[in-house]
Amino acid sequence: MAIKHFLQFSDFTREEHNYVFERAAWIKKEFKSFNKYWPLEDRTLVMIFEKASTRTRLSFEAGMHQLGGAAIYLNTRDSQLGRGEPVEDAAQVISRMSDLVMIRTFEQDIIERFAKHSRVPVINGLTNEYHPCQILADIFTFIEHRGSIQGKTVAWVGDANNMCNTWLQAAEVLDFKVNVSTPPGYELNPDLIKGVNTAHYDVFADPMDACRGADLVTTDVWTSMGFEAENEARMKAFADWCVDAEMMAVANAGALFMHCLPAHRGEEVTAEVIDGPQSVVWDEAENRLHVQKALMEYLHLGRIETK
Ligand code: CP
Ligand code: NVA
Repeated sequence: MAIKHFLQFSDFTREEHNYVFERAAWIKKEFKSFNKYWPLEDRTLVMIFEKASTRTRLSFEAGMHQLGGAAIYLNTRDSQLGRGEPVEDAAQVISRMSDLVMIRTFEQDIIERFAKHSRVPVINGLTNEYHPCQILADIFTFIEHRGSIQGKTVAWVGDANNMCNTWLQAAEVLDFKVNVSTPPGYELNPDLIKGVNTAHYDVFADPMDACRGADLVTTDVWTSMGFEAENEARMKAFADWCVDAEMMAVANAGALFMHCLPAHRGEEVTAEVIDGPQSVVWDEAENRLHVQKALMEYLHLGRIETK
């Protein structure tokens, strides 16, 4: 049987995502009640980081520990990966010594090649193109606060980056809409949103128009990891793509604000919005832990009945 990986949000069907959300809710409840739940006892997660991280590392490492298993951290600097060992060889070896692998890297192609040669499930912990674990957490957070996301509208203000591409994939899989507004020159790349029907997104030149009537307003840094050389040009181009109180005011009453973090107050979002009453960024960050525990359980054990 083919091994199931989670390399893009669209790797799972709507039904599978709904199952993961249901398991995440149960796992979160049990954890908050101090009930021990060790379905991955004696199992090992290897985490490979080629870029910096706070939340992804912590949530996977703590999550694996809480499921009864162990997590091993590798980074490019002090493993053979940084010295040019072919990714295919690394995949063969690492997957013979572990039960799950999580990778944060640059091009999506690297993780796809690793997965092809892996004996165990591989999870995308962020690539230049996609960040599916974050969108899992974001949608789980939306569901906790507002119920199903089906039929709702999400406003994306800013860069057409890994987060934006993944939101669009999620809109297709879970049947909601994304209003996208990016500065000129930083538009969506059609190759990265193949399979997303135009019924599930609209493009707006003015970020105010993208926010009008939205149930959730979300943004991300102007310069993602790996694009630092473009920082100066981006600071100028993105100046008007800052989520502020005016944008939140044209969204639906009760609209939420999300940001995957780390955030830059005064750039992509004002302090008033991210620290304001509509912001759910701390729940969003915490939920990385709970959804990824459900994800690891599903990838390693398959479906189990929620008690
Ligand atoms: N949101 C997110 O992935 O955070 P880290 O870069 O800290 O892992
Ligand atoms: N788009 C950002 C997300 C960081 C979690 C980046 O790739 O740097």
